[in-house]
Amino acid sequence: MIRKYRIGNPIETDSVVADLPVEDGPVPYYEKVNGKNEMVLPMDKKDRVYGLGETVRGMNKRGFIYTSNCSDDPVHTEDKRSLYAAQNFFVLWGKDRGFGMYVDTPGQVSFDIGYTAKDFFSICFEDFDAYLYVIEGRSILDIVKQFRAIIGKSYVPPLWAFGFGQSRWSYMNEQQVREVVDQYEKADIPIDSVYLDIDYMDGYKDFSVSEERFPDFEAFVKEMAEKNIHLVPIIDAGVKIEKGYDIYEEGIAGDYFCKKENGENLVAAVWPGKVHFPDFLNEKARRWFGDKYKLLLDCGIDGFWNDMNEPAVFYTEDHLHEVFEQIRELEGKNLDIRSFFRLQDMVTSLANNEADYKRFYHDYKGARYRHDKVHNIFGYNMTRAAGEAFERLSPDKRILMFSRSSYIGMHRYGGVWCGDNKSWWSHLLLNIQQMPALNMCGFLYSGADVGGFGADVTEDLLMRWTEFGIFTPLFRNHSAEGTRRQELYRFTDTESFRNIVRLRYSLIPYLYSEFMKAVSNDDMLFKPLCFAYPEDDMAYETEDQLLVGESLMIAPVYKQNAGGRYVYVPEEMKLCRFRSYDDYDTEIVEKGHHYIAAALNEVLVFIRKGHALPMAVPAGRTGRIDYSALRYECFDCGSDAYSLFADDGISRL
Ligand code: GLC
Repeated sequence: MIRKYRIGNPIETDSVVADLPVEDGPVPYYEKVNGKNEMVLPMDKKDRVYGLGETVRGMNKRGFIYTSNCSDDPVHTEDKRSLYAAQNFFVLWGKDRGFGMYVDTPGQVSFDIGYTAKDFFSICFEDFDAYLYVIEGRSILDIVKQFRAIIGKSYVPPLWAFGFGQSRWSYMNEQQVREVVDQYEKADIPIDSVYLDIDYMDGYKDFSVSEERFPDFEAFVKEMAEKNIHLVPIIDAGVKIEKGYDIYEEGIAGDYFCKKENGENLVAAVWPGKVHFPDFLNEKARRWFGDKYKLLLDCGIDGFWNDMNEPAVFYTEDHLHEVFEQIRELEGKNLDIRSFFRLQDMVTSLANNEADYKRFYHDYKGARYRHDKVHNIFGYNMTRAAGEAFERLSPDKRILMFSRSSYIGMHRYGGVWCGDNKSWWSHLLLNIQQMPALNMCGFLYSGADVGGFGADVTEDLLMRWTEFGIFTPLFRNHSAEGTRRQELYRFTDTESFRNIVRLRYSLIPYLYSEFMKAVSNDDMLFKPLCFAYPEDDMAYETEDQLLVGESLMIAPVYKQNAGGRYVYVPEEMKLCRFRSYDDYDTEIVEKGHHYIAAALNEVLVFIRKGHALPMAVPAGRTGRIDYSALRYECFDCGSDAYSLFADDGISRL
């Protein structure tokens, strides 16, 4: 049962597609604390909280404060309250009660889940305006499914987007891209896509291609397509200010950019230097920007990633001016503790400055809103611009799209990646823990940068991370400029990397089938154990294992130098310890705690009782997977226990 409440005067976000009546009366469970614009719920000792999508920390969110405020922050340490996403849905599940809630408002929302006061859960939001959806159900999963049913079906990418992707900031020219593909072929490691980061552009200008680096882009896309490699360019939110640059000129002529209070276009800076931000909230601007993807679609491109769309702001012209003035005042002075810190703070807070988000406005649904009031739906609407355009421009064929910033509702137009993580073991665990929370909020096509984006990866971390990445729909190795090169063929044990990625290709029929079922049934691909074994107390305690689809449980190894790990097995299961598609051993493991050995090149996969896992002979590309020759790994059943969903992988549904 879902009840919708209106508090104050909320701004519509288009995240919920179902038309529900607004209830009268107070919001159940929560009390409003007088004058403080905050709703408070006393929590029971047994209450656990799941959801909130892409955030730091474990699966049970209790014990910290999370603020939905889409942020360009590349340091995802556990003290961070905000990452790139705003996904305001959670389920509180306790001994005698459980409910889900979606706080639908495009400004900041904070969820203080026992941070200020251990046993109280308080929610605060911008101006105290929001639609609240309160959902009751038989189980956590039932609540999630009801929620998913009102927000619309999740985005479906083409099948090739389940293949392995190699990325780097940046491959600088076509020769470097060619070399990556050649090296993968030489190492016989399957791959379906190579990503083009910002340097493919001419001066970081959206929808441009550098003629110097890619002299005949269309021919190059074709050359790659002939090898069944998809090139996936990045698109950034800011449009470079440059006379004669067609996108800029059109944006000015059409009046599509975000304005300051005085009516002038906001001047901010990102990679290209000074930019204007398209007003993605404005329907006309959205349509205009979306149509620009055609420039690249026409070259044969069929996938994109949208970036810097929180939006990330290096500085605004106005704020930079203020800072320079203040610095000039300080010049020559003997700076003491306070003035020195003030100076330091002025410089380090230039980027993504809170005050800058109050300097510009949007023209949204016929009204004018200051950016901070609608901040969390900016990236969503950039990706919506693309998604809506793809429906017009590519009515028959699915296009790959994922975004860094997101809000619920965007899950209908694209997936997400979890932004600039680091090559840290703790971020491998974070990746594992973020997946089910993203799924709860509708983001099924998702993943993190495998191997970690920032910092230098080590071979063992990359191998363990790849062993987990083979289960995530988006399976992309990406790393930052200046860090150690991270392509799999650069490491000593190429054979193991080859076997692990080949294992992914064996799993694609199953993963795709389970993904598509999750889309059509409003289900989750990744579930915490307690979602499937609600009566089992230990299942609630287990936060480093996942169920993947109906047949599998995985227990990734995420610790340095570990030769295995403790695994909680919630019912009798069949363990497959894969070194490769052909080389593996199996054993039946009883319900309970086990120490399971897993050498560095071994992947632990548990098959649930009465379930089967279809596996394909490994192929070098998704398109070469032979669906007619599937082997079934079964536990206590036959292959007919599994019903495989397959389609052409490209036609729109
Ligand atoms: C941002 C993105 C990262 C990309 C970089 C350069 O940091 O999150 O993935 O490589 O920008 O475009």
